[in-house]
Amino acid sequence: MIIEPRMRGFICLTAHPDGCAQSVKNQISYVKSKGTIEGAKKVLVIGASTGFGLASRITAAFGSNAATIGVFFEKEPAEGKTATPGWYNSAAFEQEAQKAGLYAKSINGDAFSNEVKQKTIDLIKADLGQVDMVIYSLASPVRMHPVTGVLHRSVLKPIGSTFTNKTVDFHTGNVSQVSIEPANQEDIDNTVVVMGGEDWSMWMEALKNAGVLAQGATTIAYSYIGPEVTEAVYRKGTIGRAKDHLEATAFEITDSLNSLGGKAYVSVNKALVTQASSAIPVIPLYISLLYKIMKAEGVHEGCIEQIQRLFADRLYTNAAVPTDDKGRIRIDDWEMRDDIQAKVKALWATATTENLPEIGDLAGYKQDFLNLFGFGFEGVDYTAEANEMTQIPSIV
Ligand code: NAD
Ligand code: NA
Repeated sequence: MIIEPRMRGFICLTAHPDGCAQSVKNQISYVKSKGTIEGAKKVLVIGASTGFGLASRITAAFGSNAATIGVFFEKEPAEGKTATPGWYNSAAFEQEAQKAGLYAKSINGDAFSNEVKQKTIDLIKADLGQVDMVIYSLASPVRMHPVTGVLHRSVLKPIGSTFTNKTVDFHTGNVSQVSIEPANQEDIDNTVVVMGGEDWSMWMEALKNAGVLAQGATTIAYSYIGPEVTEAVYRKGTIGRAKDHLEATAFEITDSLNSLGGKAYVSVNKALVTQASSAIPVIPLYISLLYKIMKAEGVHEGCIEQIQRLFADRLYTNAAVPTDDKGRIRIDDWEMRDDIQAKVKALWATATTENLPEIGDLAGYKQDFLNLFGFGFEGVDYTAEANEMTQIPSIV
């Protein structure tokens, strides 16, 4: 099959197996080029197949020679349909891990469920005994609550009043005004249930009670803050409430890991093009201006550069882990630099459909978006038959 991108709104319906494999290989090469990190050796990654979670799995495996178990929710290929990118990424990751003699197994299913938690515990017991690091990197629009059976949906809305600002349709480059109606209390509650810290804490409780957390085990989840222009729809909106909850949960988990001498961290990461962030109004325009400035200043990073730096310069330095006044690790430090934010803010005020291709990095945005689905990689022949992959041998 020759596979081409098929765009439908904010998503791409197809994914390219060879392009996804190239993406994984590029990330592995990057991590190897930066040298060894004295990090955890047995690592569980929840949300391991794309974005920051995949970058975390790659950094642990190829930076610290860690055995990894990955949990994700991806679709395998079917008749006339490609798999989702995370499925191809994971297939490629496991192939590379195997070549390097690294243990890697995966569980494909709903991480919010009791069943997947139990399956993961059984796998750890059987193969690794215990894990010393748990990375929590889920991003999902829905969560079926394992106790009540209720299906909760998260929303991306401001709180209190209608928010109006500029946005861009990154496919067409059209800059326009968008107005988003405020959330009601139910929207806020649902978003906190889906993207807040409850499931993270359920995972850590289950792992601890099963005895599969090693002495001194650590866990980390990812958050975002961002600039003033996106505040109403992000940090002070429904998703921000969920992030507040996630950040507060870190302290509760640290308390509950006290007997093991363990610790929970939250890392605030940089804004990046992912399927999730592309669907949030206003954010794509911010990202395209931010990329332009950060590239010009030589401080642009993707997921793998962010996570490699998080591990090498924050988590595993032999010194205390540096945190801000709210106990969070900051790897969004370059994004949030005053000079960078001042430049983005000035560009924001002037951005129009006409000048965006020049003042913003719309081309970079589009390239990153295509890359998410395995398209647009150098070294891949997209006119050739794609590799027909039908199974991941190490999915349990
Ligand atoms: P992503 O969409 O690339 O990755 C999400 C992962 O979660 C995938 O592995 C997916 O398979 C998995 N997943 C989703 N639902 C699942 C389920 N029910 N069961 C099992 N697995 C499931 O997202 P991302 O952008 O890497 O986000 C990861 C974290 O980083 C999120 O907490 C996000 O808020 C945070 N973050 C993102 C950005 C950004 O700009 N993208 C910035 C800072 C922080
Ligand atoms: Na992820």
